[in-house]
Amino acid sequence: MSLVDLRSDTVTRPTKEMLDSIISSKLGDDVYQDDPTANKLQEKAAELLGKEDALIVTSGTQGNLISILAQTNRGDEVIVGDKSHIYNYEAGSTMILGGTSLFPIPNNINGSVDICDLMNAKKPDDFHKPKTKMLALENSHNMAGGKVLNLTELELITSQAKDLSLSLHLDGARLFNASVYLDVEAKKIASYFDSVTFCLSKGLCCPIGSVIVGDREFIKECRRWRKILGSGMRQVGIIAAPGILALDTMVDRLVEDHLNARFLAQGLSNINGVEIDPESIQTNIIRFKLSEKYSKKSKILVYELNKKNILINSSKNDFRIVTHHDISKKNCEYFLLSISEILEN
Ligand SMILES: Cc1ncc(COP(=O)(O)O)c(C=O)c1O
Repeated sequence: MSLVDLRSDTVTRPTKEMLDSIISSKLGDDVYQDDPTANKLQEKAAELLGKEDALIVTSGTQGNLISILAQTNRGDEVIVGDKSHIYNYEAGSTMILGGTSLFPIPNNINGSVDICDLMNAKKPDDFHKPKTKMLALENSHNMAGGKVLNLTELELITSQAKDLSLSLHLDGARLFNASVYLDVEAKKIASYFDSVTFCLSKGLCCPIGSVIVGDREFIKECRRWRKILGSGMRQVGIIAAPGILALDTMVDRLVEDHLNARFLAQGLSNINGVEIDPESIQTNIIRFKLSEKYSKKSKILVYELNKKNILINSSKNDFRIVTHHDISKKNCEYFLLSISEILEN
C-alpha cells in the first residue's frame, strides 16, 4: 500500500488540474493590486462569504494574526478558547508582533465557550486592566475533534459578545467543513463575524494559502499589516489560481471526507482496545484513545503503523487522524485492518 498519511488535511497535494491552473493563470504584481488571478479569488471569496472584500495571505496563522492586529492596538486583549489553535499553536504571535494579549477561557467539548466565562473575561474600564476588544472563535474546532458550532450556538455566543462591545473573529481554517456539516452556506456562518480567515491548503487541497474576509476598511488595514509582515507577494496568482479551482470544485466533495471519517470511527469502535464514540464524529477529524489494558501498545502504535506505511498524529494516549482528498475508502479499510492486527498481536 502506498503511503497513507492521516496526520492532517494539510498534507494534501495539489491536483493535476490545480497545477495546470497555475501554468495557465494570468499574473501581475499584486503589490500594485495588479494580479488578475488574485483579484478574482478575492472577489470570489468575498462574494461567497457575504463580505465586502478579501485578501489572500500566506497561511492560516498569518490570516489570524493579521485579522487580530488590524482590529486591535498595543495593550488590547482578545478572548480565545483555551483549546483554540490561535492560543495553542500560533507562537503567541499577536503578543510578539502587536502587543495584543490573548485571554483564554475554557472551550467546551464541542469547541464552544460559556456565556458566563465570556462575560467574566471582559475587563471593566480600569487602567489596571488591558482593554478587551475581541472574541475569536474556531469552527470547525481542531482540538475538539473537528466539532462544529451550530447556528444557535453561534447566535448565542456572538450576540453576547456584541453586547459586550467586542468585535468578532472566526478562525475558519476548516470553515467549509463546518458549512458542509451544517448544510448551510458558508456566508451564513461568516455573517456572525466581523472577520473570517479560511484556509485553502487544508481540506480544499491547495498547496499554499489562506484568505481573510471582512469589510473594505478592515481589508485595507489587513493589506498594510500583510506588507509589514513581509508578505506582499507580487505574482501571487500562482497561489490564487488553485484557490479559485478549490472554491469551485473542492467544497462539495468534503462530504466524502466526512463519510470516510465516520467509517473510520465506526470501524475503530469495533476494535478491542480502542475508545471512541463514533457518534461524536462530525467532520474530518477523529480522536481516539486506547483502553487501560492496551496502554503498553499506545507507546508503540505510531511506530507499528509507520512500519505499515501509515502516518498518524499522537500525543501520549491521544491519537488524531484526519481524512482528506488523498485518503480513499480503501486506505481507510487498510488502516482499520492494520490497527486491529497491531492490537491483536
Ligand atoms: C484551526 C486552525 N487554525 C489555524 C491553523 C493554521 O494554519 P496554517 O498551518 O496554514 O498556518 C490551523 C492549522 O492546522 C488550524 O487547524
